[in-house]
Amino acid sequence: TKNIAVMTSGGDAPGMNANVRAIIRAAIYKGCKAFAVYEGYSGLVKGGPQYIREMHWNDVRGWLAEGGTNIGTARCMEFKERWGRLAACKNMIEAGIDALVVCGGDGSLTGADLFRAEWPSLIAELHEKGEITSQQYENHKHLNICGTVGSIDNDMSSTDATIGCYSSLARICEAIDYIDATANSHQRAFVIEVMGRHCGWLALMAGIATSADYIFIPEKPSSRKDWSDHMCQIVAAHRARGKRKTIVVVAEGAIASDLTPITCEDVRDVLVERLKLDTRITTLGHVQRGGNAVAYDRLLATMQGVAAVDAVLEGTPETPSPMIAVVENKIVRKPLVEAVKLTKSVAEAINAKDFAKAISLRDSEFVE
Ligand code: F6P
Repeated sequence: TKNIAVMTSGGDAPGMNANVRAIIRAAIYKGCKAFAVYEGYSGLVKGGPQYIREMHWNDVRGWLAEGGTNIGTARCMEFKERWGRLAACKNMIEAGIDALVVCGGDGSLTGADLFRAEWPSLIAELHEKGEITSQQYENHKHLNICGTVGSIDNDMSSTDATIGCYSSLARICEAIDYIDATANSHQRAFVIEVMGRHCGWLALMAGIATSADYIFIPEKPSSRKDWSDHMCQIVAAHRARGKRKTIVVVAEGAIASDLTPITCEDVRDVLVERLKLDTRITTLGHVQRGGNAVAYDRLLATMQGVAAVDAVLEGTPETPSPMIAVVENKIVRKPLVEAVKLTKSVAEAINAKDFAKAISLRDSEFVE
């Protein structure tokens, strides 16, 4: 029997509950004991039965569709320090955990892999200090981990979709549809800011799905003069064709070619000054992260949860930590470290103003 724990970490995303449910039930189905670590890495650092709880089949009843994460999540500073990871290691051994599945974004998954890599030295230190018994030391020489990617941003390389991104996209489209009605009535322009951190996926997909007039994403920066001219030309042409409303979608991470942010206020000012449009700004905010998971996220989270349990059961000290991805509609395992590295190199390329490289890296498929 193995004792498999699941944890959610970083920003919550619809479908995380479905993922936790699938991991717990798949673990039990395979004859293992299932545990949930509450409140992300901070629960692991604090430890004890309040934070590391055994979960039974019925504990996750009704979780499939629910948004957010019922086991809590946190952005934890302590786990970034070695002492925090040492405490987490001790707490896991005390709870008898052999394997950990982490559902989160790239930062959370990097933390998981570092924890696994450091594990032998952590248990050796605990053993030396007499904080764990020789028996515990022998039984926990290796930690199997696996990542499932939960984030509304869809910003992880090596996977086509992250758990939550399609629910968030649906929510954004619904909100823009509401705005459409009022924009049309008053012949107004609306500048709508959507989430996504440094990734333009949500903005781009929402813009296409709602037939926005113009979209700003971090992956396609241009100078203020260029974007102002281009946007005004397009919006004016749409108005000339009789369109009564204007919708401009701005990704929260949108940047100009000098890497300064393009804000909704910048865009509004241009629409007002040059096109004399009555313009309002709407920041959708955390509404984009809430609500039930759409069918796709429920399916993705469930299939990936089952795949994650298989992966930790098959893992050996020699195999690199896996991340469960979806590539061309197939659930596959990818090496976690490589996927995170690729995701980080996109950010580095953007910082170095090498946009062509950033886009090709984001599009590139990591080959195992
Ligand atoms: O990563 C998910 C996300 O919602 C981003 O889109 C956004 O930039 C960020 O989290 C907001 O974080 P917080 O909820 O901590 O304000």
